[in-house]
Amino acid sequence: MTVKVAVIYYSATGAVHALAQAVAEGAASAGAEVRLRRVAELASDSAIDENPQWRRHTDAATSISPASVEDLAWADAFAFGTPTRFGAPAAQLKHFIDQTGGLWQEGKLADKPVTAFTSAFNRHGGSEATILSLGNVFYHWGALIIPPGFTDPAVYAAGGNPYGTSSVTGPTGDGSDAAALEAARYQGRRLAQITIRLLGDGRVTDAAAGDGNARETVAATASQTA
Ligand SMILES: Cc1cc2nc3c(=O)[nH]c(=O)nc-3n(C[C@H](O)[C@H](O)[C@H](O)COP(=O)(O)O)c2cc1C
Repeated sequence: MTVKVAVIYYSATGAVHALAQAVAEGAASAGAEVRLRRVAELASDSAIDENPQWRRHTDAATSISPASVEDLAWADAFAFGTPTRFGAPAAQLKHFIDQTGGLWQEGKLADKPVTAFTSAFNRHGGSEATILSLGNVFYHWGALIIPPGFTDPAVYAAGGNPYGTSSVTGPTGDGSDAAALEAARYQGRRLAQITIRLLGDGRVTDAAAGDGNARETVAATASQTA
């Protein structure tokens, strides 16, 4: 069966963009229909101009379609990417997330598999904290967090972050960009494969009705099998 995966990310200077493309490739390799979407920039042109790398990537990224909350309604599963900013997600991604109140209220984010990835300058500069912080949002949505864990050699090869792929762009990185991209591909593939399994047996689609009846059905099933 074909599942729909939305890869939603922010990237100032391109590192997360590269990971996002790899996650999208991985999901597509499992047969998913993928939307790769970049959230809106919030910084002023003058701030961007102060960093030539930021300016270069911002101009190049206009070829990527802008993210909309409709992409989340469309998708069966999500992957979110952000640079690490003081050990937390970038404001640009948070701004996008803060527009999902309506979808959340309608139950359209619940029961959907979700995963996250990041990039930081330092190996211990807060990657894990950033991904875990996004996890707080996913708990509120009632989404199903799909971490890479230590389920594939690609995770170890990229530094062994079980929470989500993280690349290191500063001098403390080991320069193995290729390993992070491979781990990101694996993360996207795993997200799509697990979504296929979940949707395939109908359990997620039933529960995603998001109303009291769905919860009562689950409770009744549990009492029948107890
Ligand atoms: C305002 C700001 C805060 C940052 N905070 C951190 C941080 O806490 N830890 C870290 O290792 N790198 C930090 N960085 C560096 C970025 O996370 C790093 O360069 C990342 O690879 C950029 O990803 P991008 O190229 O997709 O924008 C920060 C960068 C900026 C501009």
